[in-house]
Amino acid sequence: MTTRLKYGNWVRLRALWALGLSALAMGVLSLCPLNLWIRVIAALLFVVLFVSFLYPLYTYYMFSPRGGNLQDRVYDLVVSSLGREVEGNVLDIGSGNGILAIRLAQAYPAAQVTGIDYWGKNWEYSESVCEENARLAGMEKRVRFQKGDAAALGVADSSFDAVASNLTFHEVKTVPQKRDLVKEALRVLRPGGRFAFVDMFYDFKYYGDISEFEGFLKGLGLSQVTVKPLEQVITLPKPLMHPKILGRAGIVWGQGKSDLDP
Ligand SMILES: C[S@@+](CC[C@H](N)C(=O)[O-])C[C@H]1O[C@@H](n2cnc3c(N)ncnc32)[C@H](O)[C@@H]1O
Repeated sequence: MTTRLKYGNWVRLRALWALGLSALAMGVLSLCPLNLWIRVIAALLFVVLFVSFLYPLYTYYMFSPRGGNLQDRVYDLVVSSLGREVEGNVLDIGSGNGILAIRLAQAYPAAQVTGIDYWGKNWEYSESVCEENARLAGMEKRVRFQKGDAAALGVADSSFDAVASNLTFHEVKTVPQKRDLVKEALRVLRPGGRFAFVDMFYDFKYYGDISEFEGFLKGLGLSQVTVKPLEQVITLPKPLMHPKILGRAGIVWGQGKSDLDP
């Protein structure tokens, strides 16, 4: 994958800038000829803000293709979890800047990939960057992007031969119970089709108890389903195992209902 593509980053750049600039402002204030107490408080705030800036900065670097390239490794994992023989119509839910959708098209030459996202202002992704990335990767004929909502995909049941999604469901603010989003994603998967989703499946806040979640998945009548913590399937640097980063992330993959089911 060419690094000319605009990946975007799972850490928002504007949050990094805000922290970095606030730390800088406090550092400068602590050096100004002001009341001693103001300088002491500014110096303390500088230390707190600077430390809080370093952790997301490290995370940003580790995710980035110019650093630890972890985003790419997770995309690889999603693609390989779908298996080798994917063809037909493939859906990527919550495409971001479209890299996973492009990866899917590259891995499956007989597939047409649709990437959907709502491209809200709270993220630093856009449909136009997706299209530019697809063009740069030479995949523009087999990947298309459209605005859509993971909560209501707006297509008929069984429309897709494979469905993928990466770190999107927990971000859907309109649906408190994230299991409903998994159900919606599987609704559009044809019987026997493959699926692979990465999300915060081990975070109680989003999915409830993990064994109950596994029971829920089994209750959907899938012919195969496996759930694993992300750290069991790829090596994650220890600092990224924080619960707010990837410590509670997991992967769910498998195959839709049996072809023989009505
Ligand atoms: C952490 S980013 C992941 C992006 C991409 N999957 C990737 O791995 O680079 C979460 C994505 O979810 C998208 N998203 C949030 N709510 C959504 C919704 N209701 N429908 C579709 N996409 C949504 C955001 O726009 C963002 O692109």
